[in-house]
Amino acid sequence: MFLPKRTKRYEGDLALRVLVTGASGFLGIELCEHLRQRGHEIIGLWRQHRAPTLLAQDRQTDLRSQSTLAQLMEEVNPSVVIHAAALSDPDWCEKEPELAFAVNAVGTANLVRISPVPVIYISTDLVFDGKDGWYDENAEPRPPNVYAKSKLEGERAVLEGAGVVVRVGLLIGRSRGKKRSFLDWLEERLCHNQPVPLFMDQFRTPVYVPVVCVALEKLLSHPDTKGIFHLGGEQRLNRTEMAHIYFRHFPGKKHLAQPVCMRETTGVVRGSDCSLVSEKLKRLLGISTGTLDQAFGDLARRKANRKGTINGGAAPWSTDPRFDR
Ligand SMILES: NC(=O)c1ccc[n+]([C@@H]2O[C@H](COP(=O)([O-])OP(=O)(O)OC[C@H]3O[C@@H](n4cnc5c(N)ncnc54)[C@H](OP(=O)(O)O)[C@@H]3O)[C@@H](O)[C@H]2O)c1
Repeated sequence: MFLPKRTKRYEGDLALRVLVTGASGFLGIELCEHLRQRGHEIIGLWRQHRAPTLLAQDRQTDLRSQSTLAQLMEEVNPSVVIHAAALSDPDWCEKEPELAFAVNAVGTANLVRISPVPVIYISTDLVFDGKDGWYDENAEPRPPNVYAKSKLEGERAVLEGAGVVVRVGLLIGRSRGKKRSFLDWLEERLCHNQPVPLFMDQFRTPVYVPVVCVALEKLLSHPDTKGIFHLGGEQRLNRTEMAHIYFRHFPGKKHLAQPVCMRETTGVVRGSDCSLVSEKLKRLLGISTGTLDQAFGDLARRKANRKGTINGGAAPWSTDPRFDR
């Protein structure tokens, strides 16, 4: 059973001492910030790039070093671990398969082995081969590339250690980490008047980062947190459709969008429909995972607010004004 150690009371709930790996990454930075604002005590782990957050505590650690991890775990004594660190670029993983397995599979197994408390592992919709789409938690993963295979091995280690796996869809937001998000990439190309090649033949269920942060926070405190959960947005979309929705909220330069076929590119084999069914998590936590319209609408509203052009209300799940830098 999932039983994080509680420390003190806050806002009628219980505060936790949360160790977050990947605290310098796209998701990790926002997650640490969100949990900190909600009163939890956060210790963020980074490896090469110190996170640009105001965490009271952070540590530099490599998941591949079991002895360093063991020492850290003893020092930090967390209530629960959220494991968001990964070699997360599928193209890079394909070029460096040994490194991908060392970090995503062995590194995860190391963490699970030495952690005396539950581990919540952030995994990916890409563990599926994409032949069917709308995968629920009972669907059989068939990873088509190195990244997906290494993440699936990580999942197995976590489940054997009675941890929790949360498979997220394509993350939507602007990254404050080193890696650029899909949105960063899109906007960068538009800004430089470069054509934006967009897959027409790969479908995902994109999910706004603040939604993921809220769901993970709720999961931390839920007594029925066990097994696998899917966490995708409400819509199944290809990249061309995602860009159409983007232009509705951020008009201009539409002509630069260029629909392309994934198979025409030289990249790694990716599943063509990795959409996720997230009903289990939505029912458990009583949340909606939102549409891309809501996500881009929130980002646009925040931008306008900053410029003082509208007095928009708070979005349902936004917690951090820095999402819209
Ligand atoms: N981005 C997406 O759309 C997406 C979609 C589905 C699932 N996911 C999953 O969500 C999680 C977060 O993704 P993300 O986009 O936030 O990734 P990211 O921006 O690439 O961040 C990866 C994080 O992992 C850390 N890391 C890498 N190698 C490490 C090592 N050997 N030891 C310790 N830490 C290490 C990095 O630290 P340094 O930078 O300090 O080295 C960084 O903090 C990942 O598990 C990913 O598989 C992401």
